[in-house]
Amino acid sequence: MGPDGQKKLALITFGCQMNKHDSEWIAGLLDDQYQLIDDHKHADLVIINTCAVRDKAEQKFFSLLGRLKPLKNKTESLIIGIAGCVSQELGANLLKRNPIIDFIVGPRAINTIPNMLDNLARTGEPQINISDSNIFEEYPMNRDSKYSAWVSIMQGCDNHCAYCIVPYTRGLERSRKPDSILKEIEGLANNGYKEITLLGQNVNSYGAKESDGIDFPQLLRAVNEVDGIDRIRFMTSHPKDLNDRLIQTLAEFEKICPSVHLPLQSGSSRILKAMSRGYTFEEYSSKINRLREAVPDLALTTDIIVGYPGEKELDFNQTLAAISQIEYESIFLFKYSPRKGTPASIMTDEVPFNVISDRFLRLEKIQRVISKKKYDNWVGRQTEIIVEGPSKKDPKKQSGRNPQNLMVHIDSDIDYTGTTLRVSITGSNMYSLKAEVV
Ligand code: SAH
Ligand code: SF4
Ligand code: F3S
Repeated sequence: MGPDGQKKLALITFGCQMNKHDSEWIAGLLDDQYQLIDDHKHADLVIINTCAVRDKAEQKFFSLLGRLKPLKNKTESLIIGIAGCVSQELGANLLKRNPIIDFIVGPRAINTIPNMLDNLARTGEPQINISDSNIFEEYPMNRDSKYSAWVSIMQGCDNHCAYCIVPYTRGLERSRKPDSILKEIEGLANNGYKEITLLGQNVNSYGAKESDGIDFPQLLRAVNEVDGIDRIRFMTSHPKDLNDRLIQTLAEFEKICPSVHLPLQSGSSRILKAMSRGYTFEEYSSKINRLREAVPDLALTTDIIVGYPGEKELDFNQTLAAISQIEYESIFLFKYSPRKGTPASIMTDEVPFNVISDRFLRLEKIQRVISKKKYDNWVGRQTEIIVEGPSKKDPKKQSGRNPQNLMVHIDSDIDYTGTTLRVSITGSNMYSLKAEVV
């Protein structure tokens, strides 16, 4: 506890944007009781928001949990809570094997955290809630940024890609009511936010299950009407549900940023079928062509899984060819990791680990050249950034993102935090640009 008597909360987050946004929500729920701090060694409450999507993410969490043990033994009053996808995946077993944990909460029960803390204080008994108890409405958020905000528009996923644990941890797909989304965005605009990112596992199927609602292009149109919001982004799009109406909407509305993250996963239609992705490479590629025709200056990013069971050299070469053909600004490259309970995890034709590592490096090498070319192409051009603030290491360096979502750094003595600036690109690094204010 600090000298002011306020208790301290350390929140450690693994995983995707969804999880990062959930952490903003957890911090918001506890805002009146706890002050958020960075160093967990000085905390009264440590919450780890976990990710289960690959074994590596899970192992990182377990090693952190191991490191917390001596701290917990030393400080009896320290409370340790586990949130996120590992909580949902392992539930009571996690508690059984790790008695230092005081509470476990799943991604669909986050709103019960204050209640669980009360029960813990009253009974001294460990608490667990991995039920489906979210009421999907507005919550107090303690957001990281003052200018750019994530807004959740749906939960869960119905796709059941053969390798993916997300539908098991986050449940089936549900869309949030448009009124509730728009009310949150209007509130953000009134509080000075300029950019919003609509979040969901598969935003293209927004509203698909709700008969009274609107669909994703209609939602984008409605968000476009909100005064004060200059930029609209969204993630993640699923290639199978990306249709011409969405492409048309992107082309038509200036506030919607020309940047799309469209996970390909593999360039081999045979592997895509084994993954149950619901599209062939040819279908994907033709959608990319239509997107690029409709939206000039579009930036594209993607996810690729290397070493899916049954991936032969021929399949992998098709992925290499796909990457070279499409030329993404950047790609997120993952080694296949079997997840318990998924159909892929019981497939027998596993790719040996050394082959996976070798393919990973080959793909990475090709992409580095493509990314460099893409970033170099910006030198000499002008663009617009929203400045997020000075760098922690060097206050004279400030950074922001342009509409294509590329990171841009400027050197200046003037603090431009929160300003939309026109800049001229003077140089490029790996995955960032240098610029001067115009
Ligand atoms: N709904 C989003 C996010 C899914 S998780 C989407 O479809 O893109 C983000 C990425 O992690 C996925 O796109 C996939 O590339 C990767 N991923 C998911 N499960 C994985 C697994 N078992 N092994 C390796 N990578 C995986
Ligand atoms: Fe996983 Fe597929 Fe859902 Fe993405 S769309 S979260 S990869 S099941
Ligand atoms: Fe991880 Fe769950 Fe997100 S498994 S990637 S935190 S949806």
